[in-house]
Amino acid sequence: MRSISRIGELREALAPERARSEIGLVPTMGAFHPGHLSLFDAARQAGGLVAVSIFINPAQFGADEDLARYPRDLERDARLAEDAGVDVLFVPDADEIYPPGFDTWVDVGELGSLLEGAARPDHFRGVATVCLKLFEIVRPARAYFGQKDAQQAAVVRQMVRDLDLDLQLDVRPTVRDDDGLAWSSRNAYLSLEERTQALALPAALLAGQEAYRRGEDPVPVARRRLGALTADYLSVADFGGPTLVAAVRVGTTRLIDNVRLDEEKSA
Ligand code: PAF
Repeated sequence: MRSISRIGELREALAPERARSEIGLVPTMGAFHPGHLSLFDAARQAGGLVAVSIFINPAQFGADEDLARYPRDLERDARLAEDAGVDVLFVPDADEIYPPGFDTWVDVGELGSLLEGAARPDHFRGVATVCLKLFEIVRPARAYFGQKDAQQAAVVRQMVRDLDLDLQLDVRPTVRDDDGLAWSSRNAYLSLEERTQALALPAALLAGQEAYRRGEDPVPVARRRLGALTADYLSVADFGGPTLVAAVRVGTTRLIDNVRLDEEKSA
């Protein structure tokens, strides 16, 4: 696996590869967990070269958010990426992506301003801008995202469509721990007690999904099941299909999760 931090070097390394095979890109902010590994696996199975970016994108964090304490462990991430068969790891620093004077942003419109976008103004502007830059730098045939960030996937899909970007998006199912909690780098912030409390989130979404299948409104059912957890929002949105989405606070940690309502019941 080659680890590269400069855009010019990455472009040089990828040009001959692109002539030989397609490139799959997994954009990440590092702190790898099984959700990331499932994306690497999907990219590897598609064949071609697998590129993974690790960039904790300051532009998608609000001033009072967790940019400074976001988990970082590059050595461990590099080991996991290598073991997962990643070919190229792109690890730029902030000046490489946003050089002094940088001032061009993707305006994500309506889809980026509701729910997660209302709770985190400018979040999706930052996400869309960095994804567009990464797509242009890497020029992948496919880019991989997790369904766990359903609104993010929808915003990026809209950008790809609206800007005629020449790549396919592959959105892979949420990976959950044995207890049902969706894997997230932010789970590392939870104490043992908070982690137990956090389980009300997936339980509430599942209860909402069951209610929807019975023909009921999923939102009040899920809200009741959330119990003492404070929800920033709990709502049904059309993110490529009807999706029950929620953001909750557990102590000082903010967690998001969702379930597709039109999904077949698994056996
Ligand atoms: O989902 C993430 O890790 C980030 O939002 C992404 C897509 C890498 C953009 O910074």
